[in-house]
Order: sequence, then C-alpha cells, then structure tokens
Amino acid sequence: MPYAQIEGWGMHLPSRIVPNESFVKMGLDTSDEWISSRTGIEERRLAGHNEATSDMAVKAAHRALRVAEAHASDVDLIIVATCTPDHIMPSTASLVQNRLGARRAGALDLNAACAGFVYALAMGAGQIEAGRAGRVLVIGADELSLHLDWRDRSTCVLFGDGAGAVLLRAAVEPGILTSTMGSDGSGADLLMIPGGGSRYASNGRNGSNSGGRYLRMNGSQIFRWATQMMSRAAEQVIRESGLEPERIDLFIPHQANLRIIESTARRLGLSEDKVFSNVGHYGNTSAASIPIALCEAIASGRVDEGDNIVLTSFGAGLSWAALALRWTVPIEGHPSRWTPIRQTFESRMAAVRSAMRRQQRRVRASLDERFRADGG
Ligand code: ACO
Repeated sequence: MPYAQIEGWGMHLPSRIVPNESFVKMGLDTSDEWISSRTGIEERRLAGHNEATSDMAVKAAHRALRVAEAHASDVDLIIVATCTPDHIMPSTASLVQNRLGARRAGALDLNAACAGFVYALAMGAGQIEAGRAGRVLVIGADELSLHLDWRDRSTCVLFGDGAGAVLLRAAVEPGILTSTMGSDGSGADLLMIPGGGSRYASNGRNGSNSGGRYLRMNGSQIFRWATQMMSRAAEQVIRESGLEPERIDLFIPHQANLRIIESTARRLGLSEDKVFSNVGHYGNTSAASIPIALCEAIASGRVDEGDNIVLTSFGAGLSWAALALRWTVPIEGHPSRWTPIRQTFESRMAAVRSAMRRQQRRVRASLDERFRADGG
C-alpha cells in the first residue's frame, strides 16, 4: 500500500494588516487589552476588495508546487477546504485547477468550517493510500471577513483571511500516520452563517426571513467544547499512531484563541516549546489556520526531518479532526531559480488554454445554432 507524504507547502496572507486598535478607532466598544488578553490576537490580515478566496488559494498553491518542484500537470486531485467559496457553484477548487493549469486533476471543495483543512488532508491522504492518486493538492482558504458584522464586538475581532496549501505525494514510507474526523450537528446553531443556502434562500422561497449573511456564534459554549474536543481528538491520533506523547515534536492546533491552545496543550501534557501558535498575528483564519501555522513553523526552524507532528482542529458543525504525521522531507532544499519562471510560463499557458477552450465552446455553440436555424 502506498503512503502519503507532504512534499510541498505554501501560504498566502493578504497585505492589509488590521491591529486591535483599529476597532476602537471605528467606534466599537472594545479595547486592545480585552482582545489580546481574552484571545491572544493582536492583529489580523483582511483581503482586499478584489481578492477572492480562489485568488489567495492559487498563490498558496503555487508556493507549495514550487517547494516540491512539481508541475501543476502532475496533480491528480485538488481539494479546497473552505466555507467561503467564490461562488455557490462552481467549486473554488475548479477555479484553482483552471488557474494553475492542473489539466489532469479532479477538483472539489470541502466544507467543515475551521476543521476543513485537516479533513481535506485526511481525505487526500486516503486517495493516495487507496492507489487512486499519486499527487493531491490540499488547500485551506477562507475569507470570513466578508461575513462579519463589524458592529458585533463578540465576533468581528476574532477572524482574519488567508490561505495555506500542502502537496501530498505517494511514497513507500509513511508520512501521514493516522487521522480522525468527527461531527456533532446538535451544536450546529452555536456557530453559523444562516443565509445564502437553501434554508433561508435569497429569493425568499423558504420564508421571508433571510437568515442573515453574518456569522453568529455562542463564543463561551464553543470555547468550553473546543478545549475538551481538541485534546480528546489529539489523544486519539497519538494513541492510534503508536506514539507516546513524549515523542511528539510539534503540536499545531487550530489558531482560534490562545487560551484554547494553552488549555489543550496543558491537557495533553505538552511543554510550551512543542506547541506552535501564530494566532496573535492573524486571528482565526478558519480552514487556512493550520496550513499557515505549518508553513510558519517550518520557516522558523521548528520542523526537522523525522519529527512527529500532530494537527488538531475544530469548527462549525460542530466538527473536529486531528491527524498525526511524520515529517519526511528535507526543509533546507531550495527550489531551482528556474522554478518561478517555469511557473509563470505554465500559468500564462493555462490562461491561454482556458481562453481557447471558451472560444471553441462559443464557436461550436454558434455553429450549432446556425445549423438548427438552417433546419439541420
Ligand atoms: N471587547 C470587549 N468586550 C467584549 C468583546 C470585545 N471584543 N466581546 C465580548 N465582550 C464582552 C461580552 O459582551 C461580555 O460582556 P457582559 O459580561 O457584559 O455580557 C463579556 O465580554 C464576556 O463575554 P464572554 O463571551 O463570556 O467572553 P469570553 O471570555 O468567553 O471570550 C470569546 C469570548 C473570545 C469569543 C471566547 O468565548 C472564544 O474564543 N470562544 C471560541 C470561539 C471560537 O473559537 N470560534 C471559532 C470556531 S472555528 C470556526 O468554525 C469558524
């Protein structure tokens, strides 16, 4: 049976930095002191006006492919974990597939809210282990800022935008060791963006109440549940992968709140140096939080070949997932200086191919019409 290993990684963060003080300046009844002491968040990044989820996802994916020195055409499957897709349909993954020029790849979105990336990583690894794919691009990308009510201090200070990606490949040695996924839909109402789907349809078909497009949340109940669930899920994958807690080199939890992260680490008996956190800089970037944290852990020298790493996440659903992996690739390898040039060329070719396909479809449609009009 083939195993799945991570061979490339990349992230993208929007350039606009919004510090806590900005909320006070906007007239919100809050303070830097409240936000940083209750959440650990000091600032977050927000996407620009013309920056959609797929734009951030493509940038993160390009970087992951560059690190692996892989071609987009080598990818068999693209999974984008997101709860803020560009459109209801088509999938954001299809848009990413087209922009990358990943001609052979299947593409789908996966929505498990903030837990989405770990879900997607587990499912991507499963496709490789089943022999159905040789390379899977797994992306976590979200733009929750679009769904924040900037007058609601209990939610708008918590989230940020961003994207992170990893490229999985088939290998003879295990990289992904084990994973678990879970859901408890009885808590669906604790965290939701009610409008925009079929329950509160925008055409009013299912009642006049639009349900609202803003995120609403019962923070304290999520907090209590998350502190228990994160450690329980992590313990399960540590046990099932045959590792002892002391053999865990790095723990990367979902970056939602520093107090949740610290409490989970305490429950697991992990010392501070084994826990990665960057929530202070980015807030909760939803499905992007774990891949961004992984990329930053790598960049800051916290990951070495042979390390055992545990990822845990939780989110709306309620949903949760955890995954244990062994890091198998050297960090210090630098991609060839030709790789970015090749990627630019491939992206341009992908855009040309895509434009030609559209043109072909238009020509074919107009020929069909003429044929019908001529009574053919
Ligand atoms: N500034 C000042 N005061 C605030 C703010 C703010 N930004 N937000 C809330 N408060 C007030 C509340 O109104 C409340 O005031 P009251 O006592 O007068 O009613 C008081 O602070 C305490 O509110 P709590 O909700 O009890 O505060 P708590 O310590 O629980 O912290 C927080 C709130 C930060 C939201 C915390 O509960 C939390 O992080 N929960 C987890 C949320 C989370 O992780 N969600 C993401 C899930 S992932 C996904 O799928 C997207």
